[in-house]
Amino acid sequence: MNIVDRIYDLFAEFGGQDYGEDVSQLDHALQCACLAQREGAPDTIVAAALLHDIGQFIDHAGTQAEGSGTDGHHEHRGGALLQPYFPPSVIAPIVMHVDAKRYLCAREPGYREGLSSASELSLRLQGGPFTPDEATDFEKNPYFHEAIQVRRYDDAGKMKDMEVPSLESYRGLLTGLANPDTYVAVS
Ligand SMILES: [Fe+2]
Repeated sequence: MNIVDRIYDLFAEFGGQDYGEDVSQLDHALQCACLAQREGAPDTIVAAALLHDIGQFIDHAGTQAEGSGTDGHHEHRGGALLQPYFPPSVIAPIVMHVDAKRYLCAREPGYREGLSSASELSLRLQGGPFTPDEATDFEKNPYFHEAIQVRRYDDAGKMKDMEVPSLESYRGLLTGLANPDTYVAVS
C-alpha cells in the first residue's frame, strides 16, 4: 500500500464521523481544501488543509476530547503519520494548526469569541491561549504564515451546505507531493 491509498482508507473508515460542528470529518476536510483552492493557495497548503485533522482518525484521538475530556494531540499524530511521505511545507501547518488557534486567541481580538463550541472545548484541553512570549516565539517559526492560513480554512470549513470537489479529485495532487522514495513503504 502507498501513503495516498492509506489516507483514502482512513477517510473511508472514519470520514463519516461527526466533526462536532454539524459536518462530518470528510465534509470538513473537503471544505478546508476547497477554500484553499478557491484562494489559489499552493498545492502544499491545499494538501495540509485536506489532511490537517487526519490524526483524529488514529487511536480515536478525534473523540477523546468529548469522550474522556483529554487532548488526543491529533495534530502530532497526523504529522507523525505523514512526515515520512510529504515535505515540511505540508507537515508543518498540520502540526501547527492547534498552536495557530492558541496564537490567534492571544493576538487577534475577537478571534476566540468566534470559535465554535467544539473548538472552544478543545482549546481549553490544548492549553488555552498562548502567553505573549509563546506568541512571539510562534511568529518566528518559518511556517508561521502557512499555519495561520490553514487555521483560517479550518475555522471556516464547517458549513452545512457547501458544494465541494470529491476526495478522489485530490489523488493526483497528493501523489504529486508525496516523496517517491517513501511513497510505497506504508504497511
Ligand atoms: Fe479541523
